[in-house]
Amino acid sequence: MDAPRYRALMRHQAGAVAIIAAGRTGSRGGLTATAFSSLSDNPPTLLVCVQRKSGTHGVIVAAKSFSVNILAREQQALAERFSGKGGVTGEHRFEGGAVWETLATGAPVLSGALASLDCELLDEHQFSTHSIFIGRVIDGRFRGEGEPLLYFRNDYWDIGAR
Ligand SMILES: Cc1cc2nc3c(=O)[nH]c(=O)nc-3n(C[C@H](O)[C@H](O)[C@H](O)COP(=O)(O)O)c2cc1C
Repeated sequence: MDAPRYRALMRHQAGAVAIIAAGRTGSRGGLTATAFSSLSDNPPTLLVCVQRKSGTHGVIVAAKSFSVNILAREQQALAERFSGKGGVTGEHRFEGGAVWETLATGAPVLSGALASLDCELLDEHQFSTHSIFIGRVIDGRFRGEGEPLLYFRNDYWDIGAR
């Protein structure tokens, strides 16, 4: 099967949307991602799949930590900004008015995300164009209300509006 056919199948998997973020103020990196998953609750671990050509990839490796910020329905504009729409890159993605804080690792954590998981980089596996980063979750926080932003059939879905 070729890549377009594979993508035509996978676009039917509705998924949560997150911003993966890393680095220190002035040299932060972040990208919109749907390829993330819980790995285990003992120890608390998750995995994210990041393209090696992404600017955020090197920031995660250098910082040895990253955050996963699960977006709420009203955060579609942030998802677009962190996917490169509008051509904003690197540290400039963090300048759009959103509030970014830190928890235990120092990775940027998005205020207003449904949940943020603060991870130490535990392991890294290379496959083809991507790296699978395994993070040990050492801190986090959640809102406890609000609805998720979803991605389905190549589009964002606000489940409250549809
Ligand atoms: C809905 C959506 C999901 C995405 N999921 C991923 C992902 O899981 N992993 C990834 O590496 N890129 C993913 N991307 C692409 C990145 O967000 C995009 O290439 C980004 O500009 C990379 O930024 P950077 O090069 O500054 O790190 C996704 C894009 C969109 C719109």
